[in-house]
Amino acid sequence: MSHAAELDAYWMPFTANRQFKQAPRLIAKAAGMHFWTPEGREILDGIAGLWCVNAGHARPRIVQAIQAQAAELDFAPPFNMGHPLAFTLADRLAQIAPAGLDRVFFTNSGSESVETALKMALAYHRLRGEGQRTRLIGRECGYHGVNFGGISVGGMVANRKMFGSLLAGVDHIRHTHDPERNAYSRGQPAHGAELAEDLERLIALHDASTIAAVIVEPVAGSTGVLIPPLGYLQRLREICNRHGILLIFDEVISGFGRTGAPFAAQRFGVTPDLMTVAKGLTNGCVPMGAVLASRALHDTFMTGPEHAIEFFHGYTYSGHPLACAAALGTLDTYAEEGLLTRGAALEPVWTEALHSLRGLPHVIDIRTIGLVAGIELAPRPGEPTRRAFDAFMDCWQQGVLVRTTGDTIALSPPLIIEERHIAQLVEAIGTALRRLA
Ligand SMILES: Cc1ncc(COP(=O)(O)O)c(C=O)c1O
Repeated sequence: MSHAAELDAYWMPFTANRQFKQAPRLIAKAAGMHFWTPEGREILDGIAGLWCVNAGHARPRIVQAIQAQAAELDFAPPFNMGHPLAFTLADRLAQIAPAGLDRVFFTNSGSESVETALKMALAYHRLRGEGQRTRLIGRECGYHGVNFGGISVGGMVANRKMFGSLLAGVDHIRHTHDPERNAYSRGQPAHGAELAEDLERLIALHDASTIAAVIVEPVAGSTGVLIPPLGYLQRLREICNRHGILLIFDEVISGFGRTGAPFAAQRFGVTPDLMTVAKGLTNGCVPMGAVLASRALHDTFMTGPEHAIEFFHGYTYSGHPLACAAALGTLDTYAEEGLLTRGAALEPVWTEALHSLRGLPHVIDIRTIGLVAGIELAPRPGEPTRRAFDAFMDCWQQGVLVRTTGDTIALSPPLIIEERHIAQLVEAIGTALRRLA
């Protein structure tokens, strides 16, 4: 059997399968800030796996928690039954969440969290006697996972165009990417708060009485690190309040310290009604997501007969014991090492280092906040995404893992990153840019 044939059975997600299988990039081991290939080559992890390994790899508390839990209680049915860790974890999450978001529903991924939040929003209005509020509003360039609700409110064309008519009754506000006014912003861009008013346009078109919720990522990651302009999220919140529309923050990547606060909602001082999380919740070790709901929204469900199920929704693996153990080990690690705010302390160094790439070949914008960065490259004429992909390959060969989305190099390292790693990351990207066509 040829080498390529051995790789055939696995249909890889979000991957150029044929290209990958001709020259596979395999990872066999990880610890701290690093991966190792099967041949033992060390790779600096510049993207926390996939925006999820926020405490770094193979952290002892998390490893031990998972091992001990597997031996103690492997599974407990989540419907009409419970196990102690799920309650403890919900409580611990409520303690670090934005004030008021203290009711927690468990899922297994970011995509499931999004579906769950959208369904909560629809059901909430119906329970309040406003069942005509069925419309869901997303934003252009948004990413909310890959299930039907998520791609419907999402705004990435490649993720939508192959999959039919999607959910009915969805609309989108404008995205906030405005390089003409905001290129090379450090932190929140100065211009664009007024883009939130685009929601008023959709309200005028559809009428507020038909709109259930608006969902946005406080910081959009998958579309190339789009940081909200100063005042933008505040204005979105005000408009939602004025019209009785729920605001959902998708914090699947911006949560758990990424922006220098536990959640981006806290960094930006805007509290949504529902918040979706996943990824950093378990440090990426066991799949798990959650929706954090406001007390008021939750309590609206708790009004029917007490013997009746209040929300006909849930997953076999909601609050899975291994995931709960991993999450508790993760939250302990974050707390012991101050990782949920470490991004704020490192932000000046990070920002300075990343913006030193300004002026290098192909760079047209650099965006940074917390421990996130997007380095946007001019696309190669007629070959969009190729230049960034070549930069990714060059960095990989230099022993540094970055990620690309479109023609943007996106960085989101583990929050344990040290200054010497930042220097290595920036050096590798600079070297790649200097020799790229
Ligand atoms: C904002 C956002 N929402 C949802 C998701 C989907 O999460 P998952 O891949 O765990 O389903 C992602 C994944 O990157 C994301 O960035």
